[in-house]
Amino acid sequence: MASLTFLGIESSCDDSAAAVVRWGEKGGEVLSSVVEGQTALHADFGGVVPEIAARAHAERLDGCVERALAEAGLSLADVDGIAVTSGPGLIGGVLSGVMLAKGLAAGSGKPLLGVNHLAGHALTPRLTDGLAFPYLMLLVSGGHCQFLIAHGVDHFQRLGGTIDDAPGEAFDKTAKLLGLPQPGGPVVEREAALGDATRFRFPRPLLDREGCDMSFSGLKTALLRARDALIAEKGGITVQDRRDLCAGFQAAVAAVLAEKTRRALALYLPLGPAEPALAVAGGVAANQTIRAGLMAVCAASGVRFLAPPLRLCTDNAAMIAWAGIERFRAGLGGPTDLVARPRWPL
Ligand code: KG4
Ligand code: ZN
Repeated sequence: MASLTFLGIESSCDDSAAAVVRWGEKGGEVLSSVVEGQTALHADFGGVVPEIAARAHAERLDGCVERALAEAGLSLADVDGIAVTSGPGLIGGVLSGVMLAKGLAAGSGKPLLGVNHLAGHALTPRLTDGLAFPYLMLLVSGGHCQFLIAHGVDHFQRLGGTIDDAPGEAFDKTAKLLGLPQPGGPVVEREAALGDATRFRFPRPLLDREGCDMSFSGLKTALLRARDALIAEKGGITVQDRRDLCAGFQAAVAAVLAEKTRRALALYLPLGPAEPALAVAGGVAANQTIRAGLMAVCAASGVRFLAPPLRLCTDNAAMIAWAGIERFRAGLGGPTDLVARPRWPL
């Protein structure tokens, strides 16, 4: 196999996506990556509505596939295989993608591979940087938060993760509590940059407990209490109060992630990796304060810190196409194991 080109399809949450990725002598190359978000469709409901998401995927996915192939300058006949997210995620959306992929595969006779969405995120550093196994991975998004050691294409070891909210969810809820727009992460980060992170000291949950598990829901409650105390005291919160609350909240999240990363490294480094590395994925990895904390921890241990470009860190289909290529090269997974799964731990 000198080169392989795969079409990828992703529809497990609120992004309809298709992409074409090639693997060759130079490693991985994204030929096209189309992502159609649904933020506006769900904006009035304070969260993703599964029924609305499923319908939007069913309406949009074929268009995404057509665009992805056109932008890559290819037709379906030119690809070597099709990879589709077959879980975990909202089952209606996952089914839309799986049904479309099965139809395309049946019509074209191309191999079809089901991919775990989390494996897609976890294998992305190999697409962008050719990272060697084993590496440490931190997934931090609106829906996920976990540390994994990637030992191989099909071998991921979960070290721990959130026991309640994901950090992105906590950022989004914080924005909501403070009357800021969604998605909350970027807005809270901007406000925090103008605030005093020392004025409010929010809890750093589970730091007293061993291991890599995390909890972020108590932080949101603490923020709510601090906000309500200010309102009770002076009838409302000022712009500066809001900035200080954002800064205090962000500092707490960054401190927890940095400390848990230190602990994850302590479990990973004894494996003796030839090129020790921590890779991050997920929208929250865009946060500069959080990034700075992770980079400092890595630098102190001589570990490479790697953050793929954001468009490949957030939900996309290039990571699914790439995971399909990796599995195909490893001789893993055929059509027989392709079922849609709402839950599917790595
Ligand atoms: O990876 P992503 O697009 O996937 C989902 O989980 O859907 O992550 C989105 C999440 C949102 O919760 C958003 O508020 C958060 O990532 N986020 C951020 C930042 N940018 C996006 N959180 C903190 N700081 C940011 N700059
Ligand atoms: Zn994701």
